[in-house]
Amino acid sequence: MPPIVEIRDVSQYAGQEVVIQGWLYNLRESGKLLFPLVRDGTGIIQGVVVKAAVAPEVFEAVRHLTQESSLRVTGRVRAEKRAPGGYELEVTAAEVIQRVPPERPYPITPKEHGIEFLMDHRHLWLRSMRQRAILGVRHEIIKAARDFLDSQGFTLVDTPILTPAACEGTTTLFEVNYFGDKAYLTQSGQLYNEAAAMAVGKTYCFGPTFRAEKSKTRRHLTEFWMVEPEVAFAHLDDICALAEQLVSFVVERVLAKRREELKTLERDLSKLENCRPPFPRIRYDEAVNRLQQKGSEIRWGNDFGGTDETILSEQFDRPVLVTHYPGSVKAFYMAPDRERPELALCVDMLAPEGYGEIIGGGERLADFELLARRIEEHQLPRQAFEWYLDLRRYGSVPHAGFGMGIERVVAWVCGLEHVRETIPFPRMLYRLTP
Ligand code: 4AD
Ligand code: MG
Repeated sequence: MPPIVEIRDVSQYAGQEVVIQGWLYNLRESGKLLFPLVRDGTGIIQGVVVKAAVAPEVFEAVRHLTQESSLRVTGRVRAEKRAPGGYELEVTAAEVIQRVPPERPYPITPKEHGIEFLMDHRHLWLRSMRQRAILGVRHEIIKAARDFLDSQGFTLVDTPILTPAACEGTTTLFEVNYFGDKAYLTQSGQLYNEAAAMAVGKTYCFGPTFRAEKSKTRRHLTEFWMVEPEVAFAHLDDICALAEQLVSFVVERVLAKRREELKTLERDLSKLENCRPPFPRIRYDEAVNRLQQKGSEIRWGNDFGGTDETILSEQFDRPVLVTHYPGSVKAFYMAPDRERPELALCVDMLAPEGYGEIIGGGERLADFELLARRIEEHQLPRQAFEWYLDLRRYGSVPHAGFGMGIERVVAWVCGLEHVRETIPFPRMLYRLTP
């Protein structure tokens, strides 16, 4: 039996007979020749079936194959400059595993489909070259983020998904009936991360987070993945530096390992290659001035809207760090600036080319009295935050951290218009299926 090989490895088997297992991507017929294009999730290869060279039933089986039928093909690998991928398979045998019945053909054809149709068929759409490229880049981004933090001495501590209280404001909570009590799907692992940082010093969590976002934008999902580092004894500057190192590491890794995918996505690589530290840093004050000069209606004290973020991030050729927002537009746990207590010691990182916020974080309130007052002012249930206040009762220290939204980073790195293509099965205001 010839070895079963993955298409990405065929170059190592030139001249040898191999077995490829996959799906029929396309089929061309030219007289006594058939050219099946087979994909196996690692690549795509063109087979050549010569009528005179194979058993008649093999030729007929391949000739009647329909798009996305599954099959096992045996053949000799041959270098062929004109073939996609640079190699061809001279088919000697083929076994059909399941033939897609022609009366109910594969719904996604090479013609153009509307986005709603594709989203309804997301479970099949994932098989396309473009979606596979995005899945590959997403994987690399996640792996790179973890490799970076692991190499810096961070300990991964998993935080819960079912929680008793809000972290990022009460308007976007998903409520769950928890044996008759109210629970919420987590908006962020941060509060638990703070407990973990006091245990291990440098920690991160990485998991799904949930926001009942009622707006339909190209940046918002209701379920998204976030990597959140948290560091004891760190201040705003420290985590600005950490965020900058993390993002440049991730981009560099994708550029090094996923060129093929970025090419499939027709990504302009020079834009990503720019993305080296130091990243520009501006304060909220300056950001507001810049926006007003560009004709934005924004007033000092307002939060940035999606359009504001787009305008700001178009002004830089690499990610920009915006710090010191007014505390009133940020979450309850933000530490105030010493000189101007109306400002929060916070940072948002905006990705260039109009992509906007990919990271949000800052220094946390370490003072017991102040934090207790904030919880009251934000009308949060004190009871549910007693454990969090304990962190300020028992050896409170300055600490800081941030969250990086994976889908926002994938959208930017891949150059996608909308976050819906960045996650295998997106959850949005009007989408819970498939
Ligand atoms: O700025 P956010 O809300 O910050 C936090 O949740 C902090 N507790 C994190 C921390 O300090 N540990 O969210 C952080 C990031 C955003 O910058 C964005 O990238 C992403 O999470 N994000 C979303 N991504 C997709 N859809 C949504 N609805 C998102 N909301 C936030
Ligand atoms: Mg934010």
